[in-house]
Amino acid sequence: MKKITIAVDGFSSTGKSTMAKQLAAALGYVYVDTGAMYRAVTHYAIDQGFIDQHVDATALIAHLPKINLEFVPNPATGRSDMYLNGKNVEKEIRTMKVSKQVSQVAAITEVREKLVEMQQQMGKDKGVVMDGRDIGTVVFPDAELKLFMTASAETRAARRYKELLERGEQVTYDEVLKNVRERDWIDSTRETSPLRKAADAIELDNSDMGLQEQFERIHEFAKRVIAK
Ligand code: DC
Repeated sequence: MKKITIAVDGFSSTGKSTMAKQLAAALGYVYVDTGAMYRAVTHYAIDQGFIDQHVDATALIAHLPKINLEFVPNPATGRSDMYLNGKNVEKEIRTMKVSKQVSQVAAITEVREKLVEMQQQMGKDKGVVMDGRDIGTVVFPDAELKLFMTASAETRAARRYKELLERGEQVTYDEVLKNVRERDWIDSTRETSPLRKAADAIELDNSDMGLQEQFERIHEFAKRVIAK
């Protein structure tokens, strides 16, 4: 059967990764979480002391050739974990510490160039569901199916807050809401490939809709696009 490229973009905590993972599993496609790649670079920058209040972009850019990123399948979860220079950093990259800095790192053009090139390589044979911010606009502008997911900032902050509490992080809802709003702003106003909906993307607002219901609709739609 014909394989296609599916781009899933949108604001943070809109259920993009849940949707993209489910869709990839249902279609037998590879799932790529590009946010994990930006998070891993941010973790590296923090570890090296390149982030104080602001990111030392010059130092990070000079280190880019030393950053090796890899997705390694984890048989226990059935998903892939992010490895940074040979070390599993899946846990570290999901912390608030990284969330607070990642948008600044993702705004650096050289970082984007490196990661976009890797993402294009990963998806070159199609049969991929890739989630991020610029997949339908920059990484795969010719993707056969593009989804753009939205939900209110409050709905998204509530989801993220619940996730962080479940992972044992000490955070308040207000702190999470502030982070969601700040990231929305930085991600959509940065100069290099800002977050925006591709003209041919299907917009899905799930503030009031269950993710399962939304998934079923999209799955049917994807099957129709593949059969075309
Ligand atoms: O999807 P996420 O929340 O894990 O992404 C983390 C950050 O990385 C997000 O604030 C924006 C950035 N990002 C990006 O700029 N481009 C992508 N393709 C994916 C993520």
